[in-house]
Amino acid sequence: MTDYHPGLEGVIATESSISDINGEKGILSYRGYSIEELAEKSTFEETALLLLTGELPTAHELSKFTKQVNSRRDLPSGMIDLLKTLPKDSNPMDVIQLAVSSLGTFYPINFDAEELKAKKYTKEYYIEVSAGIIGSIGSIVAAWNRIKNNNDYIRPDPNLSYAENFMHMLDDTIVVTPLISRIIDATLILHAEHTINASTFTSMVTSSTLASPTQVIASAIGSLSGPLHGGANQKVILMLEEMGSKDNARAWLEERLSKKQVVWGMGHREYSTKDPRANILTEMVKDLFKEQSGKVSDMFEKAMELEKACEEKLAKKGVYANVDFYSGILYKEIGIPVDLFTPIFAISRTSGWLAHWIEQVSNNKIFRPTQIYTGHDHRKYNSNT
Ligand code: MLT
Repeated sequence: MTDYHPGLEGVIATESSISDINGEKGILSYRGYSIEELAEKSTFEETALLLLTGELPTAHELSKFTKQVNSRRDLPSGMIDLLKTLPKDSNPMDVIQLAVSSLGTFYPINFDAEELKAKKYTKEYYIEVSAGIIGSIGSIVAAWNRIKNNNDYIRPDPNLSYAENFMHMLDDTIVVTPLISRIIDATLILHAEHTINASTFTSMVTSSTLASPTQVIASAIGSLSGPLHGGANQKVILMLEEMGSKDNARAWLEERLSKKQVVWGMGHREYSTKDPRANILTEMVKDLFKEQSGKVSDMFEKAMELEKACEEKLAKKGVYANVDFYSGILYKEIGIPVDLFTPIFAISRTSGWLAHWIEQVSNNKIFRPTQIYTGHDHRKYNSNT
């Protein structure tokens, strides 16, 4: 095996039954269900359980899982104290990585190589462990935003769904209409899973060492934080601000392309069509504007104009808007701070990462690829000092 594919492009790294992409037709499905149908009909809790187990849950299974998730939405006081010790201007992705990593100290998880080998871990075990992490991560993101702004921690409300409770713990002054609640829920569904992207691959590699699931998620958060991955949704907003008016879209794009600069939120290695998630988000942005003011924001107009300009120039190369292009606009309009866009992506993707953790450890072989060595031939040590 001497073929080298930079970025492992096109290399089959695993077999998986969790999600599937048809990049030519622009189709994404989780466990066989189309993302369009899930975004319309499912909830984040149900989709998370679907990802973890492979099947849509019964009402009883969903209610049990929801209780398990909700039981971990209130953070331990030690976690709040820990967050309070951090500099307020910390990067939120650094904070949530640290906090998720520390979850194992507040709620020790028994995950042992020998017991795994002896097949002692049941489906119920995996669901319970996953529910705990999913329950905590939303609250960690919300709590950090309050603490860094010198606001008090808001306790979870057991009567609210995952999406509504996240908004409640984040900022109880934001009026969460049924449409906003639906939109947050749907964005969590849309970001939950996406085959073997960089952070999921990271989660699989960490899983393959039989590390604890909190470390699996912490490592994946690190990978997601980069601008070439989850960080792109924040870059899109900065880019649109920098672009000036919508009339400047074409000239701005020309200049950007001539300097070979990235157009954030455009293009995806897996799709030669518009990312199906971006289609759903575009419609949700329109619905939100209709409800809020009846007219769209400058930011959305700029985004649509830039998307049009990109399509004229880049569609022949199969470059279209991806999920990051419109998610930020949606969050911004709802009143969510820009530096939380990527952490919210992480909240959602935690369910996909955990599904891959279960799949990986259930049929494990440690990842250990090889390389082509391009360094010096063997040489004698002669100190330069
Ligand atoms: C994702 O959802 O993870 C991103 O679209 C990146 C990817 O799939 O490579």
